[in-house]
Formats: sequence, structure tokens, C-alpha cells
Amino acid sequence: MRKASATGLFPYLRPMSSRNQDQNPEFVHRAFSSIAQRYVLTNHVLSLGIDVLWRRKVARHVREHGGGLILDVATGSGDLARTLLDGVPGARVIGADFCAPMLAEAKKRGLTELIVCDGLALPFPDGTFDALTIGYGLRNMADWSGALREFARVLKPGGIVVVLDFSLPASPLLRSPYRFYLHHLLPRVAGWLTGNREAYAYLGDSIERFPSGETMLSLIEASGLSGAKWEPQWGGISSLYLATKEAAAGEKSVSRK
Ligand SMILES: C[S@@+](CC[C@H](N)C(=O)[O-])C[C@H]1O[C@@H](n2cnc3c(N)ncnc32)[C@H](O)[C@@H]1O
Repeated sequence: MRKASATGLFPYLRPMSSRNQDQNPEFVHRAFSSIAQRYVLTNHVLSLGIDVLWRRKVARHVREHGGGLILDVATGSGDLARTLLDGVPGARVIGADFCAPMLAEAKKRGLTELIVCDGLALPFPDGTFDALTIGYGLRNMADWSGALREFARVLKPGGIVVVLDFSLPASPLLRSPYRFYLHHLLPRVAGWLTGNREAYAYLGDSIERFPSGETMLSLIEASGLSGAKWEPQWGGISSLYLATKEAAAGEKSVSRK
């Protein structure tokens, strides 16, 4: 496992209100370190296994784009990176995360190219990757726009970003029961499974605050990416966003399709 050297792990660390703990890098790092060993199981239980299908959709988009060199940011215990390796023939997948205990779990799942680094300051030159993916990680970052700009920077012209994260269903019929689940049931079950209820206490609030749908599309397009598309999953409890780094005038797109 490689360690980023340059600027330290938390160059964007800034004081935050206690209400925004879910975007405080120190809190996020501590929370994921404490649940690392039980994260994958807890995820599958809480989503009744549906999260597997959502990650496969990400892999399908990357495969359709042609695979190549892929960076999975906030790779954690490697669920999405593993799905990419299994679902995108010939792809080389690098997993990046600022939480070493989560990466230790990824290593147990057969991932070999892992790097400890902050997703807001990726230790890669401009234009390195054919595709960049992030599953359930952007929401916890201190600066969503800054992260998206950084993702655009490391992509090759013509490369794609696929963001997968939770959202709220549009239908009020689904929204109310889902909110009850998020704010009341989920923290209890997750606390019971991981032994750390605090790590999940802010999940519901973070999903409430995280931009989704058209708002997220605007954020993505304002970050140097274009053609952003939104694919709500299962009535919108999860959302997949896809966008491309446009080739500059005169630059040939490297889309591998
Ligand atoms: C919910 S887990 C997602 C893991 C995996 N991508 C998945 O699909 O299950 C979120 C991960 O984001 C990581 N993370 C949060 N903020 C980060 C940042 N600024 N830089 C790097 N990793 C970050 C956490 O350490 C954690 O491992």
C-alpha cells in the first residue's frame, strides 16, 4: 500500500460545526477506522443486498466506456473496486482512500493497487485516468465541488466520472417511510452490527443535506465536467451520476469505446 507524501492527509481540514460531523475529515476517518472490519457486511444487511446491483451498474458504465486505467476514490474496503475488477475486462483499478484500516480490508479482498491519500488532493498528474469512480464517498468529503474539480483534473480528456451515492426518493409515498428508516431504524441496526452507533448517527442528516438530481448535475457541470446524466436507482434511494471530461479544442478524445 502506497502512502501519499506531499501535503499530508488533511490539507482541507477546517473547523466545522458539530452538525456537520459527517463532512469533518477527522470524524469521518475515525468513524471508518472503527467500523472497517464490519463495513461490508453492515452495508449488505442495511441495503438488503441491493447495493451490489448499484455497484454493478457503475461497472457497466465503465465497461461501456472501454475500461482502461481506473481510479476508485474513497474505495474503502474495496466493494466497488472489486466489482470493477470483476466486471471490466482488462481494466487496471487503483483504489484510493484516506483511511488505512479500510484499505487493509480491501487488500484482504484481493485488491493490490491501493493508496492512502485524500480524495481532495490526489497524488496523480493531470490527465492520468480513463475513468474515475466514487461509491458512497463524495457525501462525506469536506468540499464536494473541490472534489469534483480534482476528479476532473486527474481524468484524461474524454474520460468519465461515475458518482454513486444515496439520495432521497422523489415520491412522498416513499420518502416518508425511507426517512423513518434512515433516521430511526438504520442507526440502531448499524450500531448493533458494528458496535459503533455514533459512526452511523449522522448518515441520515448527511443524505438530507447532500445535493441530488438536478442540483448535483449543476454541481458536476460547474466542476469542469460535461454531459452530466442522472440515473436514480430504486425510486431514488440511491443515485448514479455520469459525466465526461471534455477534450479541449484540438485535443483528441481518448474514449476507448
Ligand atoms: C461509505 S465508504 C465507501 C466505500 C466503498 N466505495 C463502497 O462503495 O462501499 C466511504 C469511504 O470514503 C472514505 N473517504 C471519505 N472522505 C475521504 C477523503 N476526503 N479522501 C479519501 N477517502 C475518503 C472513507 O475513509 C471511507 O472508506
